Amino acid sequence: MNRTAIYPGSFDPVTLGHEDIVRRGAKVFDALTVAVGVNPGKSPLFAPEERVELLRQVFADLPNVEVASFEGLTVDFARRRGARVMLRGLRTVSDMEAEFTMALANHALAPDVETVFLMASERYSHISSTLIRQIAQMGRDAGREHLRHFVPGPVIEPMIAKFAG
Ligand code: COA
Repeated sequence: MNRTAIYPGSFDPVTLGHEDIVRRGAKVFDALTVAVGVNPGKSPLFAPEERVELLRQVFADLPNVEVASFEGLTVDFARRRGARVMLRGLRTVSDMEAEFTMALANHALAPDVETVFLMASERYSHISSTLIRQIAQMGRDAGREHLRHFVPGPVIEPMIAKFAG
């Protein structure tokens, strides 16, 4: 059986926590597509194409990982990719409520697509993209050094550039 999954998210920007989930997911599934979607409730820092480019750099060494962006419903994108699984990371118990709601809604929309959760590694369970955007914006000169603890290498300079000047 060919196990194909998508890992949808905003990835604004991709964090070390996301990277951990993708690297572990790539060992579980034969093919994994990291899918940059639009959360209508968020105003993004990076354009979708920029997020895709950064993700491609971060996962360039993983032959079974692809990166793509999509519009519309995540379940429709999963079906277009021939994926029966949507992978999501769970950081804390407080993530559960929103993730449950989303998984149930997605299951109602597409009963043939299952949501599978990986627990985030403990060392990354406090990271969020919002936190990282704040560090880049307010960290001033120390921002670069702080960011190293939260985002993959290729993300650091583009993050700094977004808030420069
Ligand atoms: N490490 C670090 N951060 C993590 C993480 C991990 N392992 N797992 C989740 N997060 C963080 C993200 O950084 C993000 O932080 P932020 O809110 O500060 O930006 C937050 O958790 C959740 O974001 P994300 O995982 O990107 O999901 P989302 O809730 O923004 O949803 C989509 C993004 C694209 C999956 C969702 O909006 C979607 O499905 N859109 C398409 C429309 C659709 O199908 N709607 C029906 C859904 S029921």
